[in-house]
Amino acid sequence: MNLKEQFGISEEQIRHAAGLLRARSLVAFPTETVYGLGANALDPLAVARIFEAKGRPNSSPVIVHISDIEMVGEVASEWPERARRLAERFWPGPLTLVVPKQPGVPDIVTAGLMTVGVRMPAHPVALALIRAAQVPVAAPSANRFTQLSPTTAEHVRQGMGNRVDYILDGGPCTVGIESTVLSLADGVPTLLRPGGISALQIEELIGPIARVAEQDDGPHPAPGMHARHYSPGTRLLLVDGGDVPRNGAGAYLQLRLVPRTSVRKVVMMPADAVGYAARLYQVLHGLDADGYDWIAVDTPEPGEEWEAVLDRLRRAAVSTT
Ligand code: TXA
Ligand code: MG
Repeated sequence: MNLKEQFGISEEQIRHAAGLLRARSLVAFPTETVYGLGANALDPLAVARIFEAKGRPNSSPVIVHISDIEMVGEVASEWPERARRLAERFWPGPLTLVVPKQPGVPDIVTAGLMTVGVRMPAHPVALALIRAAQVPVAAPSANRFTQLSPTTAEHVRQGMGNRVDYILDGGPCTVGIESTVLSLADGVPTLLRPGGISALQIEELIGPIARVAEQDDGPHPAPGMHARHYSPGTRLLLVDGGDVPRNGAGAYLQLRLVPRTSVRKVVMMPADAVGYAARLYQVLHGLDADGYDWIAVDTPEPGEEWEAVLDRLRRAAVSTT
């Protein structure tokens, strides 16, 4: 283990954080996607503290993080062939697999569902923490409900304050948006949330997958799939061709065109989807703190590789074009 040199985190810090997890406390930790707010997944009272700290309704299931493939058996009652192949290929990595749950997984983790979302994160600090705690770790993103997900420890500090007991600061997250969530609970594999692993990458391995339709209100196809989510406090507008508001002072996430004069700040975004995703939340956190009237975001061209980024932008936007 070389966490000290790579991330500035000592074995002592890992042991301390693991002890806190075992003692029902909340530990924020880095993953390759976003920072997670972790609790012992097998302890319902510990997981209840996550919901309290986030201000998140209990109707949303939480993803369970594991460090070793053997841990799957502690949370999943079935491990379909497709799950085995996907895990072999994409774990550790930004892919969450929804499978039938073990009876021992508390209802509060799964929002009463018979299934559980499991993922093995590709971050050495996260893996070391889970290994040291010796329990699966339930962790949503470490932000208050409906706020922007954190991609640095500083975002966690600003957003959660003293609602979190300990933060492992492993530097900025490299993927920058949340994991892909794929359900393997029924016959047809179904994409519940686009993310770090593209639908195409999954389909290349296991064949065609279904998608759930977007829903604004009412019953969600999967609990927790609220349409509006991941938003900055500042009004975010998805625009086309530099068509930014004329009034107020705004910031513009530019992909292509020259903006109008009401733009106070232009942020040139990476032209590739992976680079864009890695920067997005960090840029939005920064602009949010600067107090603009609005943030206009140039809409990326539709395209398979942009699916996850577009999904997050649409959820964050107050209006789309
Ligand atoms: O990248 C990530 O996945 C981050 C980092 C911290 O790992 N975690 C994260 O967790 O985003 P969370 O709890 O916010 O993700 C919840 C998503 C929701 O879209 C929810 O519907 C889905 O995972 N999910 C979790 N368990 C599920 C289940 N049993 N059935 C259906 N969807 C589930
Ligand atoms: Mg979240």
